[in-house]
Formats: sequence, C-alpha cells, structure tokens
Amino acid sequence: MAMPPYNPFAADCSLRYVLITGASMGIGALFAREFAKRGRNLVLVARSADAMHMLAEELRRSCGIRVEVFPADLRDPGSPERILEFCHLRHTEVDLLINCAGLSRAGDFSDIPEEKLDEIVMVNMLTLAKLTRLFLPDMVQRKQGAIMNIASLAGFQGVPGLGLYSATKSFIITLSEALHAELKKSGISVTAVCPGFTDTAIFEHSGHNRTQIRLPVCKPEVVVEAAIKGLMKNRMLVYPTLLDRFLVYSQRVASRGMAIGLAGFFAGIRSDR
Ligand SMILES: NC(=O)c1ccc[n+]([C@@H]2O[C@H](COP(=O)([O-])OP(=O)(O)OC[C@H]3O[C@@H](n4cnc5c(N)ncnc54)[C@H](OP(=O)(O)O)[C@@H]3O)[C@@H](O)[C@H]2O)c1
Repeated sequence: MAMPPYNPFAADCSLRYVLITGASMGIGALFAREFAKRGRNLVLVARSADAMHMLAEELRRSCGIRVEVFPADLRDPGSPERILEFCHLRHTEVDLLINCAGLSRAGDFSDIPEEKLDEIVMVNMLTLAKLTRLFLPDMVQRKQGAIMNIASLAGFQGVPGLGLYSATKSFIITLSEALHAELKKSGISVTAVCPGFTDTAIFEHSGHNRTQIRLPVCKPEVVVEAAIKGLMKNRMLVYPTLLDRFLVYSQRVASRGMAIGLAGFFAGIRSDR
C-alpha cells in the first residue's frame, strides 16, 4: 500500500531536524526562516559561520526552536561524513535534507579556472549525492523523511555561458527523478526544485551580469513557498512559477538546438549570441 506523502509539519516531526545546506544566505536562509516560523528545528550548513550563527540566534529567539550550526566547506570530500557525525553526536535526527548549497560561474567553459571547476562539480553534484546517500538509510528505517534538492531550469538543457552549471543541475534532476521512483513506496519523498532566475547574490558570486538577463527574475520567497507545497504533495519536480513551467513544457515542441539557443539568449552571458 502507498504511504501518505511526507508532511514536514506533522506533530511527530516536531522533535526532529531539517538540515539545510547553503543556509547562510539566499534561498537556503529563506528555507531556514520558513521552517523555523512553522516550528521546525534546524541544522544549518555552509561556510559563513558568522552569518549562520546570527541567523540561528535570531530564529531561536523569535521562534523558540532548536538550531544547530555546522560550518563546513562542501568542496571538502570529507564534509558529508563530518556533517553526519555531527548530527549523530548532537542526537539531531534529520528527517528532511534540503540540498540547497550551490554555485555557478558565468562565461565560456574554457575560461573556468580549474579549482572553480572542481568546486562546482564537488558542491553541486558529489557532495549532494553523498549527503543524500548518508542521510537516507535512517529515513528508510523510520519509513519517514524527505530529500529536497535545489536544481534549476538550467538543468533541462545546456546553457551556453553556464555550461558546467547547467550540466550539474541536469545531474540533480536525473538523480532526483530516479530516487523519487525508487523510494516511492518507502514513505520517503524526493523532490527536485527547478527555479528560473531568482533574486539572490548568486549573480554577483558567479560573475553573471544580471542586467543582461532577458527573463523576469523571481523572488526567492516564491521559490521557497512553491518548494514546500511541492514537497507536501510529493511532487517529483517543482516549477516555482508559471513561466518556469511554460519554458520546460515548450521544449516538447522546440528542437533541441532551439531550446539551447534560447536558453543562452535568456541568460544573456555571451555577447556573440
Ligand atoms: N538564484 C538563482 O537564480 C537560482 C536559480 C536556480 C537555482 N538556484 C540554486 O539555488 C541554490 C541556492 O542559491 P542562491 O541563489 O541562494 O545563491 P547564493 O545566495 O549564492 O547562496 C549559495 C549558498 O551556497 C553555499 N555554498 C556555496 N559554495 C559552498 C561551499 N563550497 N561550501 C559550503 N556552502 C557553499 C553558500 O554559503 P557560503 O558561501 O557561506 O559557504 C550559500 O549559502 C543553489 O543550488 C543554486 O544553484 C538558484
């Protein structure tokens, strides 16, 4: 018999924890605020320790929840195991893992410095997969839990000027789809959230001039709200806006070349297109 979809706000989740990577700013920090407002305990992970401690203190005070902070550089291959160990030592049972940490680099693939390439691949793909692999067994044993992976519309086709980033987001979508199906009958929800351009500091961090973007830039609040609704309905893929959905569905009638060309045009990174 099919299990009911995971509900992160059910009474029996109240002592457990939501672990959010990339929780120091942007979409990840907003997830933290939203889950805190609704009474969930949190584990925050990213590199910016001060930003996370400030956020944690604010949420403990305003929402009366428990918040653990684990500063970690997710490009470090040992970081997933250390995060799991930290959770075990603190007896923080994680029933929702939100893999939100991610980074990008705008420009030609041939210009990406090698260490940036390593970081993008490590954080966006390998660390996400390892964290999922490490936290899943406890969820499966409890027959309750969820993995939410923050992918991107960029993952539905290669994006000229964001080639490596779009490839890593395709990985997240493909892995999430497979896990969603594998875990369907186990009570574990797996959701990939696929936002379009969203108003955070990612553009400054990646060298992407946001004034060149030829699509509306969405508010992160819209992404977080749609993600939580999608999770509660056990959606495999979540498109936060109607435009996001339209852009993905319109690929069914466009040629592959046209979809890729348009994605590059919308991103507005390469001046020769
Ligand atoms: N904004 C958009 O247009 C958009 C669209 C689609 C999908 N997304 C995805 O949404 C997610 C959140 O992005 P955002 O827009 O909120 O970007 P952001 O403001 O740049 O936040 C990125 C987060 O990832 C963390 N991070 C980056 N590298 C890390 C590392 N080596 N180790 C640990 N943490 C690291 C950062 O924390 P520290 O720097 O403190 O480590 C930060 O908390 C990403 O996966 C992104 O790909 C964003």
